[in-house]
Amino acid sequence: MNILLLGSGGREHALAWKLAQSPLCDRLWAAPGNPGIAEHATCIALDAADHAAVIAFCEENVIGLVVIGPEAPLVDGLADSLRDKGFAVFGPSRAAAQLEGSKGFTKDLCARANIPTGGYVRVSTEADAMTSLAKFGAPVVIKADGLAAGKGVTVAMTMAEAEEAVRDIFAGRFGEAGAEAVIEEFLEGEEASFFALTDGSTIVPFASAQDHKRVGDGDTGPNTGGMGAYSPAPVLTPILEAEAMTKIIAPTVKTLADEGMPYSGVLFLGLMLTREGPKLIEYNCRFGDPECQVMLLRLESDLVELLHACAENRLGAIEPPRFSDDTALTVVMAANGYPGTPEKGGAINGIATAEAGGAKVFHAGTALKDGQLVASGGRVLNVTARGVSVTEAQARAYAAVDAIDFASGFCRRDIGWREVAREQD
Ligand code: AMP
Ligand code: GLY
Repeated sequence: MNILLLGSGGREHALAWKLAQSPLCDRLWAAPGNPGIAEHATCIALDAADHAAVIAFCEENVIGLVVIGPEAPLVDGLADSLRDKGFAVFGPSRAAAQLEGSKGFTKDLCARANIPTGGYVRVSTEADAMTSLAKFGAPVVIKADGLAAGKGVTVAMTMAEAEEAVRDIFAGRFGEAGAEAVIEEFLEGEEASFFALTDGSTIVPFASAQDHKRVGDGDTGPNTGGMGAYSPAPVLTPILEAEAMTKIIAPTVKTLADEGMPYSGVLFLGLMLTREGPKLIEYNCRFGDPECQVMLLRLESDLVELLHACAENRLGAIEPPRFSDDTALTVVMAANGYPGTPEKGGAINGIATAEAGGAKVFHAGTALKDGQLVASGGRVLNVTARGVSVTEAQARAYAAVDAIDFASGFCRRDIGWREVAREQD
C-alpha cells in the first residue's frame, strides 16, 4: 500500500520511521517532511490547506492511506475532503476535530455526557468574561476557544492575571480563535496524557505518557509545545486508565457517534489526576508531540495495520496494540530563544554518534543547508531512548544528548524527574 503522511515535525518523523517498518507499506510519501523523515519517505511539497492538490496527489499515486499528523488540517476538514473522494484517512472529520478546535464544544459535550471535567462558562464578550471571573475567583483558568498554537491558555493565580488574560483574548491576540473564551475551574493534581484509538465504535487503549510543558528545569519559565516526555506514565495506574476509558473516552465516542459526527483516529486526553479521580483538561485530535515519539519507540505492533484499521472502521477485527514494558524517554533539544523567537540556522552534528549507543534521534525542526544539517524551528531534535526504568531511559537519552554538537541549542536536564524521584524512593 502507498501511504501519504502529512506534517513536518518530530511526531511525523516518528510516524514515518514506524510506518516505513511495516511490510504493508510499499511507498511512503511525506508532505512536506523534514531531513529525518526523508530517510524513510519521499518528501514532497504539498500544501495541506490545498485540498484539491492533496486529492490530486493521492489519485495520481494510488494512495491507500493518508495519515494526517497535525491538528490544523483536521480542524480544517482535510479528512472530510479526502473521504468524500473515497480515500482511507487516519484522522477525524472537521466536526469531530472540534474536540480540539473548540474548547467550548468539548466542555459542552462533557456537560451533555456527564464527563468529569472542571466547571466552566463560555463567554463571548469581555464584560461577560469579567463577570464570570468574579464568580470563580482566583486561581482560575482562561482559555481562548479556538486553536492558538498552545498559547491560548492562562492558568491565573491572581485576579489581575486573569483579567489581563481576558483583555488579551478580547483585544484580538489570538484572532478568530479568541472570538470566544472559556472560563474554567482550576483543577489541582498531577497531569498525565492518555491516548486511545477509535474508529467511531470500537475503542482501544493506546498508551500513556507525561509531558514537560515549561521551558526550564524544575518546571519553570513559559509554556512550550513540550520539552520532553516519557511513556508509560506509571502515575496513570491500570485502575485510573480504566476509569478514563469508561467515564471519559467511551461517553465521548458514543455521544459524538449518536450526534452524527463519529470520531475516527486517535484521541489524546490531557488528564488531571484529582483527588476525586481523573478529570479531562482537554482533548487533542492527533498524537502528541513529543508524546508520539516515546509511544512509538515502545510500540511492537504494526502501525500501518492499526492506522489503516482505524481508517476503515475495522479496529474491532484486529489485535489491539502491543507495547514493550520498557520506558521510552525523549529530550527535546530546542534552538536558543524558544519558545520566543528561536535562532535559526545553527549547525547540528553528531547524530550518528548519539544513535550508535542505541538512542533514536527524531528531527523536529531541521533543514539541510549546503549539505549541513541546521536548526530551522523552535523544537529541533527529539533525542529518545529506552530503558527498563525511567532512570535508565533518562540516563541513555542524556548520554545521547551529550554526543550531539548543537552549539545554538539547549535542553532541559531533568526530563522524567517526577518518576526518577519516585523510583529512588
Ligand atoms: P491546554 O492547552 O488545555 O493543554 O492547557 C495548557 C495547560 O494549562 C495544561 O497542560 C494544564 O497544565 C493547564 N490547565 C489547563 N486547564 C486547567 C485547569 N482547568 N486547571 C488547572 N490547570 C489547567
Ligand atoms: N505535547 C503536547 C501536545 O502535543 O499538544
